[in-house]
Amino acid sequence: MARNPLAPDWLAEPVDPNALDPAVWPASAARDADGLLQLGGVDVRALQERFGTPLYVVDEDDARARARTLREAFEREAAARGTSVAVYYAGKAFLSTEVARWMTAEGLRIDICSGGELAVALAAGTDPAQLGFHGNNKSVAEIERAVGVGIGAIVLDSLTEIDRVAAAAERAGRVQSVRLRVNSGVHAHTHEYLATAHEDQKFGLPLEDAADAVARIRSHASLDFLGLHCHIGSQIFGSDGFAESAARLLAVHARLLEGGPVPELNLGGGFGIAYTSADDPTPIEQLAADILAGVQAAADLHGVRIPKLAFEPGRAIIGGAGITLYEVGTIKDVVVAWNDEGETAVRRYVSVDGGMSDNARPSLYGADYTVRIADRVSDAPPALVRIAGKHCESGDIVVNADYLPADVSDGDLLAVPATGAYCWSLASNYNYLGRPAVVAVSGGAARVIVRGETEHDLLSRDAGLDTE
Ligand code: LLP
Repeated sequence: MARNPLAPDWLAEPVDPNALDPAVWPASAARDADGLLQLGGVDVRALQERFGTPLYVVDEDDARARARTLREAFEREAAARGTSVAVYYAGKAFLSTEVARWMTAEGLRIDICSGGELAVALAAGTDPAQLGFHGNNKSVAEIERAVGVGIGAIVLDSLTEIDRVAAAAERAGRVQSVRLRVNSGVHAHTHEYLATAHEDQKFGLPLEDAADAVARIRSHASLDFLGLHCHIGSQIFGSDGFAESAARLLAVHARLLEGGPVPELNLGGGFGIAYTSADDPTPIEQLAADILAGVQAAADLHGVRIPKLAFEPGRAIIGGAGITLYEVGTIKDVVVAWNDEGETAVRRYVSVDGGMSDNARPSLYGADYTVRIADRVSDAPPALVRIAGKHCESGDIVVNADYLPADVSDGDLLAVPATGAYCWSLASNYNYLGRPAVVAVSGGAARVIVRGETEHDLLSRDAGLDTE
């Protein structure tokens, strides 16, 4: 059969549209003898019956293994070069008390970027000393709370914040450890990175202002300067951007050492994952080795010892461990002209019971995902599909393009992999859809770690219903 001309170039027609690419699916994803998808030893039909759809499902063992593997890989590489490393889990990717406890149990610290994330981490029982606090506009109240509970480190993002944190620490009678966020001028996205002298963005301070800012930090007795911080972007493949950024930061780090101790360097997060089979992220072990080699080279060049390092991955830990389950509703074959001659092809729109409210990434970033029928396998040939949501918006797309067996029909259960990061955390109530529950699966058992919203929840904030 001829290739559907509506298929994007990167998308290969699969030999088997039931197959689960291990690069994209959680580690425990497999089909049983009946073709039913299992995750953490639990079958998806059982999950659907018990919890409904849409449903976020996280493979707990996989999330924890990714956290552990990443931490161990960086620790190994750091130790081989005579230094140490702290790995913070970036809670913005997906945070709940349960996830915070998993990360702590796997030896990670937690990076938070708002008072709300701080509240979740504290409610989980996380030792405040293990937390790092980011953000370009933390409120004074957020700073006071963080300082008051004894947070491990605050990443200062502006001159205003230097004085605010210093004053809060003074009021609390504490010395607060701080990092200074700078922009290295390196901006990375997937395969490419861009290095400029000046970055046009809201985070951090220009590298050339770092010396003055650090002098100001050092002038406050209530602040303890840990070192520089930068984050060059997200969903990055390869280590070149990190190495370039480390080189630029270590040049400044070396100069800062002349004015006092600079024990650490935080290179942020951003390690990419495979959303589709066409994505080819560098394996974590390789990435750790390459980044540490880059750091070593830069340290040698500037004649400094490698400082203690810190990293803050979110997506690389939780992204690939999660899937979303949806039920198919309506299906339409839409005839689409694909060239100027007016030649047409059919795009099959398969609509599901969620959409941009549970996964904003396709509409926000044009992100690609992949999809499989989860509750059966089929011998039908592959057909190009677009998975659409149920929202009143034509850009409400969950999977822009993939192949499903051509007999996909209403009532089928679909699974979209790699939805563990930035799906729940970016979820909305658009069109008054309740945000789905998050269920963790492990060892044949499933449990809710975040409850789904009910109609009652949706109405509970409507002040028009208040009775005196
Ligand atoms: N550290 C800092 C300072 C960050 O700003 C971020 C992400 C991270 C660490 C973690 O990055 P990760 O390892 O997860 O890539 N909503 C977007 C991603 C925004 C990332 C914001 N900052 C998305 O869905 O792709």
